[in-house]
Amino acid sequence: MRIAVVGTGYVGLVVGTGLAENGHVVRCVDMDAEKIKQLSQGVMPIYEPGLEELVARNVEEERLFFTTDLPAAVAESLLVFLCVGTPPDPQGDPDLSAVLDAAEQVARAMTGYRIIVNKSTCPVGTTERLRDLIRQHTSHPFDVVANPEFLKEGAAVDDFMRPDRIVIGCDDVRVEEIMKELYAPFLRTGKPFLTMGVRSAEMTKYAVNTMIAARISMINELAAISQAYGADVNEVREGLAADSRLGPAYLFAGLGFGGSCLPKDVAACARMAREAGVEPDMLDAVTAVNQRQRARFAKQVVDYYGDGIATKRIAVWGVSFKPRTDDIRNAPALDVIDALLEAGAQVVVYDPRAVPKLRAMYGDRVATVIKTYAALEGADGLVIATEWNEFRRPDYERMAALMREKVIFDGRNLYTAKTLAEYGFKYFSIGGPCAARGF
Ligand SMILES: NC(=O)c1ccc[n+]([C@@H]2O[C@H](COP(=O)([O-])OP(=O)(O)OC[C@H]3O[C@@H](n4cnc5c(N)ncnc54)[C@H](O)[C@@H]3O)[C@@H](O)[C@H]2O)c1
Repeated sequence: MRIAVVGTGYVGLVVGTGLAENGHVVRCVDMDAEKIKQLSQGVMPIYEPGLEELVARNVEEERLFFTTDLPAAVAESLLVFLCVGTPPDPQGDPDLSAVLDAAEQVARAMTGYRIIVNKSTCPVGTTERLRDLIRQHTSHPFDVVANPEFLKEGAAVDDFMRPDRIVIGCDDVRVEEIMKELYAPFLRTGKPFLTMGVRSAEMTKYAVNTMIAARISMINELAAISQAYGADVNEVREGLAADSRLGPAYLFAGLGFGGSCLPKDVAACARMAREAGVEPDMLDAVTAVNQRQRARFAKQVVDYYGDGIATKRIAVWGVSFKPRTDDIRNAPALDVIDALLEAGAQVVVYDPRAVPKLRAMYGDRVATVIKTYAALEGADGLVIATEWNEFRRPDYERMAALMREKVIFDGRNLYTAKTLAEYGFKYFSIGGPCAARGF
């Protein structure tokens, strides 16, 4: 099939490349001319494991193209995927302007029948809104499909190529058949192709993300209670994860959730609830617990140093909102960095991939290094903010030798208090043993 993908960000680039990898001819469109220029020169604007090789191969095979020319891409394609951003506006509501703009541009560019497939996460009812908008700007026939995307950054290629399920919200059986045919190669292991009403499909995306966020907030609250009573949440987690009713996913206590999706989707779902007269008590609690968790950790680090913090040099390992991505949008690490900078500390950051994006945001306000241990030279403390694999089993002896003050604030519970004590470190984790409380 001939496909246009509008929006070549974390989702659009993976979707476009994954579809091209299955043999389709895909035109990835973006309004960001610099991004398209980079991609056309083989330079990746984002880091996502395995993506660069796939992009190169499909460009080489002339199945994948990058362009800013939306009308030309739409004219060439039967299917048009919308993968533009829906970031929160200043009030925290999802800003749909990019989706509406993109849909209008697509409508104006149509030269015949098109299927517009919306992958951007939008409030329930948006597909119908898109349908009305497109109808105003074209006389050609079309269908609009809701096709929420569930990929995770850091494993996006795998998730797209081998999804847990495909959800299609669609009212037309012929369009359903086309979508089924499109996704059949991705579902060869028998994972379900779920067709449902358009509104149910839109709601499913919010249901999944709010449920994940709720688990994270729940384990973080359990961590705080565990610590207050001298229990270790790492041990408690093992008991939880082994329960077949619960399963092991998203049960790690940490700094709280961040990134470009969970916080905004929980907020958007709460807003939808309120607009319909439903009190979103659970969603409000999920957000409140998360905000408290993020603030509590940052405050703990700052409070530890007290008045002397302005003379301290604090190392931060990891700034991306999760490992295996360079995405720092709404990353919990930024709360810690902001709190440290505000208190007057010097901050030196190492991250395997996200340093360029951090520098674009902070400039010289933070120091950055390109090697893991360089961050520790003369440091008065180390904050672990992202659980990149390379931080899991570091050389403790080398760390102890490099640091001026041996204290670690482990926001991802990578280490054990006992091991670090053997190397002379003071160690603070989330919901783990707490020396200050005598546990
Ligand atoms: N990032 C994720 O992990 C993820 C996962 C599932 C769903 N989603 C949802 O997918 C959507 C896209 O997310 P993302 O992280 O890829 O966003 P992103 O910000 O990385 O990319 C969006 C891209 O769209 C481009 N764009 C905006 N308006 C355009 C227009 N009119 N024409 C052409 N290009 C345009 C932007 O320049 C940008 O490159 C969001 O609704 C998000 O909630 C994201």
